[in-house]
Amino acid sequence: MLARVVTFALVGVDALPVTVEADIHPGLPSFTIVGLPDAAVQESRERVRAALVNSGFEFPLKRITVNLAPADMRKAGPGFDLALATALLIASGQVPGDVLAGYGVSGELGLDGRVRKVRGALAMADACRRMRSRGLLVPAACAGEASLLGDVDVVAVDSLGSLAAFLTSGERPATVSLDAAALLAVEPEDDLDLAQIKGHHALKRALEVAAAGGHNLLMMGPPGSGKSMAARRIPSILPPLGVSEALEVTRVHSAAGLLRTEPIVARRPFRAPHHTISSAGLVGGGSTPRPGEATLAHNGVLFLDELAEFSRPALEALRQPIEEGAIRITRSQRTVAFPARFMLVAATNPCPCGHLGDIRRQCACPTTALRRYSTKLSGPLLDRIDMIVDVSSPSREDLIAEAGPPESPGVRSRVREARARQHRRLAGSDAGCNGQLSPAEVRLLCPLEPSARRALYEAHERLALSVRGHDRVLRVARTLADLDGRDVIARADVAQAVAYRETSPVDLLAAAV
Ligand SMILES: Nc1ncnc2c1ncn2[C@@H]1O[C@H](COP(=O)(O)OP(=O)(O)O)[C@@H](O)[C@H]1O
Ligand SMILES: [Mg+2]
Repeated sequence: MLARVVTFALVGVDALPVTVEADIHPGLPSFTIVGLPDAAVQESRERVRAALVNSGFEFPLKRITVNLAPADMRKAGPGFDLALATALLIASGQVPGDVLAGYGVSGELGLDGRVRKVRGALAMADACRRMRSRGLLVPAACAGEASLLGDVDVVAVDSLGSLAAFLTSGERPATVSLDAAALLAVEPEDDLDLAQIKGHHALKRALEVAAAGGHNLLMMGPPGSGKSMAARRIPSILPPLGVSEALEVTRVHSAAGLLRTEPIVARRPFRAPHHTISSAGLVGGGSTPRPGEATLAHNGVLFLDELAEFSRPALEALRQPIEEGAIRITRSQRTVAFPARFMLVAATNPCPCGHLGDIRRQCACPTTALRRYSTKLSGPLLDRIDMIVDVSSPSREDLIAEAGPPESPGVRSRVREARARQHRRLAGSDAGCNGQLSPAEVRLLCPLEPSARRALYEAHERLALSVRGHDRVLRVARTLADLDGRDVIARADVAQAVAYRETSPVDLLAAAV
């Protein structure tokens, strides 16, 4: 007898439907899986066999052929187990298959018949919704996540036995339905606050501006001045995730296997990969492409601490996501697209010893070391940074001062207001904030007062701004005006935005050699 069960293959952060066809014929006992299965799918035979027997079912001692269609798509991972076992149960007549019409099935099986969680349940629910399927049978551990979209009947199964009971009697193990908006309404606790950073008023203001416009930011200063500390406090001033943003992030983190017990990612991600990371680790890769750090930082912050220590190929690889907000990885059969819209925050010492430009200590680097450092920093990324902030060591007075009341909530509400202005202006645009304005939008949406125009002109003369540099100044000036509740950009906005580009580490290094 032949049975068909619909399941899903995870490709990038998308779930593509796969039909499991099981055919059982009299003959010498055998169990064959065809349709481009990888090693984990082949091993599925052993898990399915043990799970069936240990759940009290019969494993058919006949000629079993399973085909995974479409046959030209590679199938990877253990997530096909449950669909395979279900197809065998139906094909061998141990359970009826009619209840399953319109439902997809996904789950990994333990040898005892227990159902383990799979990656990508939210993407599967989305696929069901697009295909107008009725519902999805998923492991209980990821049912909450699958139910976030609504529109799809999510049946949580915890064992092969409970799935069989559902097919036989329609008895539901559990129906799960969570509301994303309600889950997001609970503000997650955070014990990191800007107030913990002593002194550094200019830096805190720069963080506020960067957060308000989603601008890429580089902090430059001697070791121990608080750069890493400041970066870790950026999430505390970012606006909360909207429902669709949170679903995008959850989808990515689920596909990467990073969702633990929580059904939704409620906080903006903050990813801080170590500088030894490979370019594949940063932007994704592998034979079945997995998301990299840039994608895991989607809708959040990608923090590159010690920027000059990252390998050149890794930094080069970040160009595409920074420009396009997405990463495309092409493999022999298909191209996988990953979302990767993040705020880039980087930190660096100005030179190898860290004290170049320090008023309190002399830089001890030999000229050759300074040159080498300059080549590393002058890479592709520096041109894509909107704001550079000089972070000098906090003064002794600042350090011994008592910690004040929390500052992040106040900053965050100003950031939210500035973002709300941007959203109204950008309705219908691809850009979500000023940092993402296209060159055409920069010209259209950044009206300047006459004096501001003159200031920009002067900056051109003085700094020899490139076209890119010009646009970056205007984007930041746009945010400064938004923070102040103004539509037209004033002279002071331009002056401040220009100041955020004036001290480049490369210029500093060039002056020293
Ligand atoms: N401005 C500051 N306010 C409070 N603590 C600070 C400040 N700057 C540095 N520190 C302390 O020094 C430690 C090292 O700072 P860190 O952020 O790692 O410096 P950097 O990344 O610039 O080398 C921090 O953990 C923090 O305890
Ligand atoms: Mg540091």
